[in-house]
Amino acid sequence: MDSYTVLYGVIGDPIRHSKSPVMLNRAFREAGINGAYAAFHVTPDTLGEAIAGIRALDFRGLNVTIPHKIEVMKYLDDIHPGAKAAGAVNTIVNEGGRLIGYNTDGIGYVRSLKEEAEPSLAGRRIVVLGAGGASRGILWALAQENPAKLMLANRTEEKARELAGAFASEFEIEPVAWTDLREACGSADVVINTTSVGMSPNADATPIDPSWLKPGAVASDLIYNPLKTKFVRDAEAGGCRGHGGLGMFIYQGAYAFEYWTGQAAPVGVMREAVMASFT
Ligand code: ATR
Repeated sequence: MDSYTVLYGVIGDPIRHSKSPVMLNRAFREAGINGAYAAFHVTPDTLGEAIAGIRALDFRGLNVTIPHKIEVMKYLDDIHPGAKAAGAVNTIVNEGGRLIGYNTDGIGYVRSLKEEAEPSLAGRRIVVLGAGGASRGILWALAQENPAKLMLANRTEEKARELAGAFASEFEIEPVAWTDLREACGSADVVINTTSVGMSPNADATPIDPSWLKPGAVASDLIYNPLKTKFVRDAEAGGCRGHGGLGMFIYQGAYAFEYWTGQAAPVGVMREAVMASFT
């Protein structure tokens, strides 16, 4: 680092578990960019001051994580349509003093799904489990791929109907009752778990019975702790193709890197850096 170093970071509460600094600093080094990325513990009561600090210190970029992804939007100068649709911002680009909010979670997830499991989603039948914050951005990003059918199920069914309704003017999402999932999953090419079911320490749980998926279908999970959930493991044992959540994390960071630097992200070394930090 020297007096030309361009600054980046991530804000959240909590934040010390974040793998983003390890991943992005490795990316800058690999790309020969004089940048530095740090993690900042910012609580909700100081969010506005933190964003003012970004402007004052002329940070080029910032990632935003839980619990600030929605609240941060009011401090920004512009919000990208994809982030508006997702209803949340996870990446800020400082364009000469104007702070622009993006959401790279949903598109990062879809890029990971295409790179690692299913190269083309066009014409596919997709079931999304869960209608929480993560689901919203992923639905929007999936819809951009022109699937044949996008189905959404949530334990609390009203939330699935509401979320499907929120996108009704842009694209069609079919709400599916949780009790009808067996049939929906049996006819799906891709089933995606966006719920927290199966996350450590409850790693023995699955959101649905993985044997409902047809052989050859993709079983995808946003969870990356554990790296391979029971849902994905059991589906693979039944002849499905598994896809874990780590790729979503890597590619949301890859898009952020690309928005900030204008260069292709060195995805391989970013993944290596994250994997090494687990051991
Ligand atoms: P995130 O922002 O990560 O999506 P969230 O907004 O808290 O997290 O959403 C959690 C999701 O997991 C919700 O869809 C939730 O379903 P409900 O809306 O019915 O609460 C889902 N979820 C949590 N525990 C679940 C369980 N035991 N079975 C099924 N779904 C569950």
